[in-house]
Amino acid sequence: MVGAATCGRAAGAQNITKVIRDELASRQIEATVIEVGCMGHCYAEPLVLIQKPDNPTICYGYVSEGLASMLVREFIAGDDPCIEFALAAMEVNDFIPTFEDFPRGMVEKKVVMQHCGIIDPENIDHYIANGGYEALAKAIHKSGEEVVSEIKTSGLRGRGGAGFPTGVKWETCRQFKEDVKYVICNADEGDPGAFMDRTLLESNPHQVLEGLALAAHAVGASKGYLYIRAEYPLAVERIEKAINQAEESGLLGESILGTDFNLTLEIFQGSGAFVCGEETALIASMEGEPGIPRHRPPFPAEAGLWGKPTVINNVKTLSYIPHIIRKGADWFRETGTPDSPGTAVFALAGKVINTGLVEVPMGVTLSQLVYDVGSGIDGGKQFKAVQIGGPSGGCLPESFLETAIDFDSLNQAGAMMGSGGMVVMDEDDCMVEIARYFLDFTQNESCGKCTFCRLGTKQMLEILERITKGEGALEDIDTLLNLAKNVKTGSLCNLGKTAPNPVLSTLKHFRNEYEAHITEGRCPSLMCLNLIAYYILPDKCERSCDACIGSCPVESIFSNEDRIKVVDQEKCVKCKSCMDACPPQYSAVVKLSPPELVQEKENDNG
Ligand SMILES: Cc1cc2nc3c(=O)[nH]c(=O)nc-3n(C[C@H](O)[C@H](O)[C@H](O)COP(=O)(O)O)c2cc1C
Ligand code: SF4
Ligand code: SF4
Repeated sequence: MVGAATCGRAAGAQNITKVIRDELASRQIEATVIEVGCMGHCYAEPLVLIQKPDNPTICYGYVSEGLASMLVREFIAGDDPCIEFALAAMEVNDFIPTFEDFPRGMVEKKVVMQHCGIIDPENIDHYIANGGYEALAKAIHKSGEEVVSEIKTSGLRGRGGAGFPTGVKWETCRQFKEDVKYVICNADEGDPGAFMDRTLLESNPHQVLEGLALAAHAVGASKGYLYIRAEYPLAVERIEKAINQAEESGLLGESILGTDFNLTLEIFQGSGAFVCGEETALIASMEGEPGIPRHRPPFPAEAGLWGKPTVINNVKTLSYIPHIIRKGADWFRETGTPDSPGTAVFALAGKVINTGLVEVPMGVTLSQLVYDVGSGIDGGKQFKAVQIGGPSGGCLPESFLETAIDFDSLNQAGAMMGSGGMVVMDEDDCMVEIARYFLDFTQNESCGKCTFCRLGTKQMLEILERITKGEGALEDIDTLLNLAKNVKTGSLCNLGKTAPNPVLSTLKHFRNEYEAHITEGRCPSLMCLNLIAYYILPDKCERSCDACIGSCPVESIFSNEDRIKVVDQEKCVKCKSCMDACPPQYSAVVKLSPPELVQEKENDNG
């Protein structure tokens, strides 16, 4: 099996598949090669799993073309499992540890990701063999009311960001006695750094379809849509195939499983605006209108698509449904916290060693995610903060590392669960720049309907830009706080209401960094380009080495009469190439902030 979700493909999985196929063919070995989805270990892509009789299934990571052909030669054709290249075994054995043996494995608990990366997403039989569509077969003979009641009892809260109880939403929609109702899977996923929903669609599409079918049965809908952004072509392709296979198998379409339940599913491709993930904007865009949020109430569950009662649920939310129906609400409640039962899926990115996707019980701490799952900070640097919840979320500093991750604790801490994006930052990340980056995103994505969201965020962004350039004033901080309050209260949808969160949380926890930019013209993390300068330490420069000179794209480094290298500050474009090129044994290139320090150093050195 080759991990061939988008993350695997980006790392070259398709070449690896070809190499394996060619090598097998040249040796006339009959073996099945399957392109699977993503297990979550994105840091080690491309991944290859080999299942050979009388051996445990072994997962290999960082597979190059050379390693791929070697695995065929040595393991499939021969007897050597090449354990030095194994990431982990998938079953307990005497030789190779399993993923469960690592600190990450002790924190992880897979429910919706259980079969991701180990089944063929394009083969319905793989899903069925693992209990797939059992929940639909079970629920179809129950009333919609019973299904709603089971979901209510499970305490499942929507994973699209707001954490609204799914059963309550379904109950509202169910109570409307209209002939036409709709169910929609929200797979818009526009948050920067988030790819959980895409991975589920690409790795286990039938799980999402079964969840949507159960939602339709529960509320009494016979038409459903999957709203998938057009930038997710592989997800669209796999969902399309899955719909066709389910229809051919009598699991979708007319008279499902011989009953009077009918459900037609269709894909709607969104054009990729972040605001179109907001449920009323999503409906508007499906109706052919501009993707602009509408006032609620009425909520979509009462009057949604074409004015009909409509349930909209996130991909992850729907993926939990078959498991809850199959194993029961009490089983679901055994994991997580009383108010946030179940698990949460996170996309771990930034400065951790092991980036990727992970599913953990609600209630694990941020520290467990950063250190056990992520294996800590890359390059031995110091942890600084974690941005959780994407652009709607907040930055939490080290003192919050023991915070339990669930909807309510994160809200209390000044962040948000959001959709599950999590970016880890280290000492080299400037928190003012991070706030500017997220606000720049929301400002660009604002639909412009509300004045405060449209113009208030623009003003906030301009202030942040000034501060990162060292042109801010202390009064700017009060203006930012004031504007943030107004943008939050004066905005219609959660894009505007949450847009100030990254600014507010960084101001709360890292105000000293804002003040250093403003009063000292200094960026403490040496990140803001206008406030730093590159300097070559004369006593560390190895005079006969020209590595930095060769690396500089604008020829701004010259040798002085002692052959020591010097940066011409006027010409320097601050690209960092010289710092990267300087051999580590010298480490002569440093960043200084404020830039005026260069003059001081040069004066000191005569
Ligand atoms: C600006 C904005 C973008 C959103 N994007 C998404 C999204 O991409 N996917 C999603 O499921 N929910 C998104 N939501 C939340 C949806 O409005 C809605 O709450 C969610 O789809 C409901 O599903 P759930 O109950 O399963 O969480 C977004 C909300 C806002 C304000
Ligand atoms: S808050 Fe912003 S994105 Fe939401 S409706 Fe108003 S202007 Fe549009
Ligand atoms: S930072 Fe870039 S432009 Fe500046 S001196 Fe170094 S290599 Fe040249």
